[in-house]
Order: sequence, then structure tokens, then C-alpha cells
Amino acid sequence: MTFELSVYEFDCVIVGSGIAGLRAAEVVGPHARTCVITKGKSKESSTQYAQGGIAVALNEDDAPSHHFEDTLAAGDGLCDPEAVRVLVEDGPRRVEELIGMGANFDKKNGDFDFTTEGAHRKRRILHAGDATGREIEKALGRKLLLDGYVSFFEDTAVLELLVQDKRCYGCIAIKAGKLAVFYAKSVILATGGYSQVYAYNTNPPLATGDGIALAYNAGCEVADMEFVQFHPTTLYLGDKKPISIFLITEAVRGEGAILLNQNLERFMPRYHPDAELAPRDIVSRAILSEMQNTKTDHVYLDLSGLTVDIPSRFPTIYKRCLESQIDITKSFIPVAPAAHYCMGGICTDVWARTTIDGLYAAGEVTSMGIHGANRLASNSLLDGLVFGYRAGRHVVDSLPGNAEPLDRALPMRDRFVPSHQDRIKLMRIREELRSLMWHDVGIVREGDALEKVLNRLKGFESAIAGFGFHEDVIEVQNMLLVSRLCAEFAFARQESRGAHFRVDFPVRDDVAWQLHLVGKASGAQLEKVPNIAKRPL
Ligand code: FAD
Ligand code: SIN
Repeated sequence: MTFELSVYEFDCVIVGSGIAGLRAAEVVGPHARTCVITKGKSKESSTQYAQGGIAVALNEDDAPSHHFEDTLAAGDGLCDPEAVRVLVEDGPRRVEELIGMGANFDKKNGDFDFTTEGAHRKRRILHAGDATGREIEKALGRKLLLDGYVSFFEDTAVLELLVQDKRCYGCIAIKAGKLAVFYAKSVILATGGYSQVYAYNTNPPLATGDGIALAYNAGCEVADMEFVQFHPTTLYLGDKKPISIFLITEAVRGEGAILLNQNLERFMPRYHPDAELAPRDIVSRAILSEMQNTKTDHVYLDLSGLTVDIPSRFPTIYKRCLESQIDITKSFIPVAPAAHYCMGGICTDVWARTTIDGLYAAGEVTSMGIHGANRLASNSLLDGLVFGYRAGRHVVDSLPGNAEPLDRALPMRDRFVPSHQDRIKLMRIREELRSLMWHDVGIVREGDALEKVLNRLKGFESAIAGFGFHEDVIEVQNMLLVSRLCAEFAFARQESRGAHFRVDFPVRDDVAWQLHLVGKASGAQLEKVPNIAKRPL
């Protein structure tokens, strides 16, 4: 069946309405015809659910150099120092601007109430209770509304990028069953990560890796796809398997909560000198090991040592746990790890440029080596803020050079609605994929199992290859693609580092592997490179 094709014309199209997309929109809006396209409602994003806070060196005993060192240490030898330097040095100014837009972070006696989380040596995390992301989205959303420059297309999914001669000139999207072409001089991908490919994860359902798949299919390089961060503490609710699992912020441990195993013994001091505040990968693996030793599928968080008023400091968690009959002021919280954040993504330089002209990427969808093999807690919101701004700034500065009309093709696409049978097959494949990724490409990996996963994924890809151009099909294709890349990269990296742990290669090997893996759709072998942020130049 052929559907009507709407055509829109903008200078800049931004895909995604999380922190990176909104910050970019705020920068570009006053200078160029700009729109934000977003798959759900504009508030729906991982950003909206961010709890713990945003890390920034603004406390008086702190400095960007300390933040730099902690980021590098958590990244386990794989951070790009140049990119990290941009993050920590631009960070304070960007956060001050956010505060200027009305973001209201908690204060104590008139000063910011900085908290801490795993692997931070200073108290440098600004927060708004345990709903920091919501506060940031509110401030950015309000600013965009007051400025009034930017158009929003909600419930609109981008399905394909338009690229000719290594130059991006827009995208194809779908809204309410209708295809639309968005022509643009620049496109900024700010579509977040792919944690939804795991059966247990903290992300909203939209986090299916679309931006990475769009860019990869258009010819961009992707890097570090093997590194997926598993958050140690998400609410464990027995057999119930929601699509997204509720997070119990690391800030709870920052304020003094401890982890107990099934025998109610504190175990983290046996695994790391920083105990509950060790880097996330170490805490997640320690929990996994305790669960295996005690043959259970959860451990406990004990908040009894906290000196803060729990219901007012952590109101969202307090309410959510009460809904499940857990009063966290009196009882332990049952917790287990879940997929949370993707360090891998589209290669960009420090101005958010990809290897395709006119195509930018910012936030969790990218990989430029800021987070190395394991992201430092609360650095992700800062990443989106700093590099969303930089993407926007570069687009604005390039406008005069981009002004010449492009010789653009009008893409012809038919949208095919899958049959009932095909839909059932699609749902089954999605669920099998999520379970496969959880079991075999999760916190602990092993070569033979990864090889089997790769074969299964190729089988799934061929099973739905002929299903046609439809948003539900494309979403599952995207999930399969990013999962395959994650498994391929994980199979190739024969060592253990940060969030990537191979039981068959359990040791970090700096001689062979202090390198990033980079791949592209050309079919060429994965490349090993010392530095990602310099690639797109
Ligand atoms: P997102 O906020 O994920 O936004 C992606 C956007 O892209 C969404 O609007 C989505 O609808 C849109 N999109 C996706 N695909 C398409 C498509 N095909 N077409 C159109 N639109 C599309 N980090 C911290 O630093 N501190 C924290 O305290 C913290 N807590 C967290 C708690 C939770 C529960 C979660 C899930 C994450 C947390 N993180 C935290 C991580 C952090 O929130 C995210 O990494 C960050 O918000 C990502 O921002 P982003 O702008 O890159 O993407
Ligand atoms: C949390 O609040 O524990 C999440 C913080 C993060 O992902 O950086």
C-alpha cells in the first residue's frame, strides 16, 4: 500500500528530546529553522528518569582536574584524555547556564548540596531530590517554549537518514502511519542508547539503539559497542518482568547505604577498598558473584545508616517502593543489577561531528572515548549537556558554508503493514533477543557463547529481512543490528576491562588491548584504534 508523503524543510533537524537534543535545539533555534523529532512525547527519554544527579566540578574543594582524574580512573584505561578534558572543563559553564535557565538543584544552608556516588573522590554531584533528570528536562523545555523558535514533532520516529556523496541532507520519519521527508542542512542524532536489547534494564522502551543503526547504515563508524554498563541496584520484584526496571540510585549508597547478601552479611569490602562506592562494573560483578554463591537472584540495600531524611531526600524511590509494600525507612530493599547505559555508539570528534558531512551526534548515542570502558556515575547528563551544546554551536557556526542548495533526491518509500503472522514473529524475536543478550552478552561473557549468539542473531536478521518498510519492523531490525555489533565487539575483545568481562580472558591486557574497536557497514574487519575523537576529522 502506498502512503502520502509529507515534505518539510528545515536548516537543522534534531532527533531526540533528551538532554542532548534539547540543549542542541536551544543553541541552534535562534539562528536557523530548527525542529526536534521525537519518537514518543517530548518528555519521554532516559533523561526524564535520571535520578542521582549531574557531576560537575563546582564545589569549592573540587576542580576540573580532579573530575578528569576520576573519569579516567573509572574508564579503566580507555578514556580519551582530550575528550574528557572538554567534558570536565566545559561542564561548569554549561551547568551554570542550566541553573540560569531555572534548573533548581537542592541546596543546604544556602549552598549547593553536592552528593557523591561510586568512584568520585569529591562530592560533586548536583541533584534535585532523586528526580534530577526531570528537573533538567523541565528547565530546558521551559526555555525552548519561552524562546519559541523550535518546532516539535512528537510521536514521530526517524526511520532512515538521507545521505548522498557522504553528505547528510535530512531524514525519513513516520508519524501516525504517514511517512514524512525532512530536508535539512544538518541533522543531529541525540537518540540515546540501546539498553532495551536486554531483558532487564532501567531504560524507557524507546531506547532501542535507533540512532546508532541509522548512522551505521548510512556509513558512519561506530566504536566501543562491547561496553554496556550494568547498574548494580535496581528494584527486584521477584518474577515480574517489566520492560523497564525501576532504578535505586547510587546516591543512596553515596549517602551511606550498604549492600548485604542473603545471609545479611556486608560483602563489598571483600571486593574493593571503596566497598559500595567502587566503580559500577566492580559492584555489579560482586553482586552477581554473591547471588551465585548463595543461589539467589537478588541482594539487599540497607539504608539504616543514612543520616538524611529518606522520604524527602529520595521521594521518588520512597513512593515507588511503598507501592510494592516496601517501606525503605524500615526495611531492606531487594536489588539486582540491570543494563543501564551504553558506552559505545557513533564515533564523533569533540564537536560532535560524525564521519558524514552535516551529520552530528551527541549524548548516549555517541562514543568518543569520554567514558572509556566504564562511565563514571552522573557523567552522562553532563556529556549530553556539553556535547549537545557543542553540536549546536558547530551547526550554527557552519550555517553560512552550508547555505548553498543541495541537489537532493526525493526518496520514494512505501510503507508495508506487516501481517498478523509477521507481527507475532516480530514480537517473539524481540523477546528472544532480549533474553539472549541478557544471558550471554551481559555482565559476564564467554567466547563460545558469544559465537552462538552471533549465529542466532544472524538467523533472526534473515527471518525478518523481507518484512518491508514499517516502523515496528525497523525498530526490531535496529535492535538486532546493535545487538550483533555488541556481541561481535565483545567476541573480538579478548581481555576483561571495565564493563566488559570475559571469563575466558579474565585479565586486563594493556599490551594488546589498550585500544578501541571501530566498525562500519562496509563489511571490513573491526579496526583497532588508539583514539576515537580524532577519527571524524
Ligand atoms: P535520551 O535522554 O535517552 O533521549 C533520547 C531521545 O531520542 C528520546 O527523546 C527518544 O524518544 C528519542 N528517539 C530515539 N529513537 C528515535 C527515533 N528513531 N526517532 C525519533 N526520536 C527517537 N545519568 C546521569 O548522568 N545521572 C543520573 O542520575 C542518571 N540516572 C539515570 C537513571 C535512569 C533510570 C536511566 C535510564 C538513566 C540514567 N542516567 C543518568 C543516564 C542518562 O539519563 C542518559 O544517559 C542520558 O539522559 C541520555 O541523554 P540523551 O539526550 O543522550 O538521550
Ligand atoms: C544513579 O542515579 O545511580 C544513576 C546515575 C548514573 O547513571 O550516572
